[in-house]
Amino acid sequence: MTASTLTITRPDDWHVHLRDEALLRSVVGATARVFGRAVVMPNLDPPITTVAAAAAYRERIAVATPPDSRFAPLLTLYLTDNTPAEEIVAARKSGFVIGAKYYPAGATTTSDSGVTAHDRVYPALEAMEKHGLPLLIHGEATASEVDVFDRERVFVEGSLARIVRDFPALKVVLEHVTTHEGAEFVAAAPAHVGATITPQHLSYSRNALFAGGIRPHRYCLPVLKRESHRQALIQAATGGNPKFFLGTDSAPHLRRAKESACGCAGCYTAHAALELYAEAFEAAGALERLEAFASFHGPDFYGLPRNTDTVTLAHETWTVPDEYAAADEVIVPFNAGATMRWRLVV
Ligand code: DOR
Ligand code: ZN
Repeated sequence: MTASTLTITRPDDWHVHLRDEALLRSVVGATARVFGRAVVMPNLDPPITTVAAAAAYRERIAVATPPDSRFAPLLTLYLTDNTPAEEIVAARKSGFVIGAKYYPAGATTTSDSGVTAHDRVYPALEAMEKHGLPLLIHGEATASEVDVFDRERVFVEGSLARIVRDFPALKVVLEHVTTHEGAEFVAAAPAHVGATITPQHLSYSRNALFAGGIRPHRYCLPVLKRESHRQALIQAATGGNPKFFLGTDSAPHLRRAKESACGCAGCYTAHAALELYAEAFEAAGALERLEAFASFHGPDFYGLPRNTDTVTLAHETWTVPDEYAAADEVIVPFNAGATMRWRLVV
């Protein structure tokens, strides 16, 4: 490493939405350009609830990926109230399904077929614990009386604590942790409980949602939280604790779906994912910790080999485009129009 470049082991993205069809073809290159592997979320419409559907989706991703790329998608199953234990066994055997995703019904985009009460998913969780298939959780309570900013805390203190207690050998990832309660729960839990952290939750507090007017392109779920939570996430990400690792939650939606009277949740961060993390780590004075967070902790947690090649960022300014062409329309990227301080060079 010289003063003006940073070379690290190739990172992986442990949580991404690649979508399907034309949108998949538009966005997969941004992820494949920098990440060796990515855990691909199953919340398509209809969701990926079987290993057969995951295999077909994997094939569509492979066809859409630029031919010179060695990017490997890792698929996930979408848990429903009725996921049979046999599907869990088949997922574990497949070699390409890395886990099953728990969306509380109604928590977020395309979560309508998610879990309505966690007792219903207990047979699947038992099978996952027994056969060693990790559980990936969208950790938000969905009861309408729970304040939107409290949803993660309420889920963590109730459902997550119960799942971790009732399934002591189940590997669990609290996806896109956004609160100090979530980060503290994970830090205090056994080693097989981890969490991903997004670049937007490291970069902004909820003030950014209302900076000069409402900012739909910074709206995601779980929603940005107050500054003290952001500080806790920075501590978790930069503190060297192997339970915390990179997961962008890049969630592209077309501009018209975001800039609408009822705009979709999701920030498209894949266009500058590693650069956004580098900025957050640099601002925290912890650039030397970026490699472990981005490239080591995730594979170590999942029991997979670390990547062996490298990527290089140059300390160079560039301006994020206002939009990217996608599926005959446009996507507005996260931080559109902003000046970035790091640029991916190889
Ligand atoms: O903001 C979000 N967008 N959060 C999610 O959990 C889902 C995602 C999406 O699929 O758009
Ligand atoms: Zn997500």
